[in-house]
Amino acid sequence: MPASEAIKILVTNQKGGVGKSTISANLAAYLAIQEGLGVSLIDFDKQASSSHWTKKAPDIGIRVSRAEINYQSVGMALLSARANLRKYSSGVQISICDFTWTPAMSEDFMTDFDIVLIPSSSAKFEMASTEIFILEYVQKRMARLAASKQSLIVVPSRVDPGYASQGSFTNLDFLANCFIAPPIHRTPEIDSYVYQDFLCVCSDKAVADNFSAFGKYISQKIDERREIRRTLSISGQSINREIAKKVSVLDDYRNRAKSLGFYGGAANAEFNQELVSDEAQGGTQEQSFSKRFVPSFLRKNDK
Ligand SMILES: Nc1ncnc2c1ncn2[C@@H]1O[C@H](COP(=O)(O)OP(=O)(O)OP(=O)(O)O)[C@@H](O)[C@H]1O
Ligand SMILES: [Mg+2]
Repeated sequence: MPASEAIKILVTNQKGGVGKSTISANLAAYLAIQEGLGVSLIDFDKQASSSHWTKKAPDIGIRVSRAEINYQSVGMALLSARANLRKYSSGVQISICDFTWTPAMSEDFMTDFDIVLIPSSSAKFEMASTEIFILEYVQKRMARLAASKQSLIVVPSRVDPGYASQGSFTNLDFLANCFIAPPIHRTPEIDSYVYQDFLCVCSDKAVADNFSAFGKYISQKIDERREIRRTLSISGQSINREIAKKVSVLDDYRNRAKSLGFYGGAANAEFNQELVSDEAQGGTQEQSFSKRFVPSFLRKNDK
């Protein structure tokens, strides 16, 4: 991948209403205003929230495009998504895609990005579903991820200002390429900024500072990606043949979620409670599973 090619950022989660569009539009603005970068915002969202925001707010030179995917087949969906990504990423330094993840899209599309941002609230069930989403993806595309060193970044979204990111998402702790971004706080008066102003420069200093801290973190990750691109070996690392049968953390997780009637989307108070009581007993079972069953090249501590 040429060093001059746009750094591609995907903002996604299979869950709706987690803040994807808010984050996409405002991250685009932060990178354009505060970092002086040429940014392209690609809106795959049917409601087109992020592109509306970017178009209605003061013009700061972000290139905004609506992208349509042809869902006739999985192959066609991947092809049209990639065509849009390529087309709208040319001639800029950064491209940001706002996309609600769907099983109709191949994970290959996700591997095309340098950075994947996954917004998630701090509600237990949403954190768990975000963890499953990431672990399933990592399991399916392990070889590719080991080679590309793609950054997966969970973004705690709409959280209370007192929220501490550290210690949350413990099932992801072992993944070398997975990070937790500084949280984006719940902004009760966000409706007064929607389409009017960008959060990083809005009149409420606390809101502006909070979003800017997130933006700065992502900007550092972008610099890291540029460095990684320079040093990436094309061959990547060899695949541990034991992987497939060993990554049982997911099955355990899934079965547990299923038995509680949670897996598949419905929030379940019982499941939340179980997670809480697990923590009270000092660490989750999944955590110890993950340590044993995840291949060494994806483990943080073995580096
Ligand atoms: N930090 C925040 N504080 C308060 N409200 C927020 C925050 N971020 C987003 N919201 C609100 O939550 C709702 C969902 O946000 P947003 O549209 O960004 O999510 P989304 O993931 O793009 O949703 P969809 O899946 O519908 O595309 C919106 O009404 C938005 O104004
Ligand atoms: Mg949206």
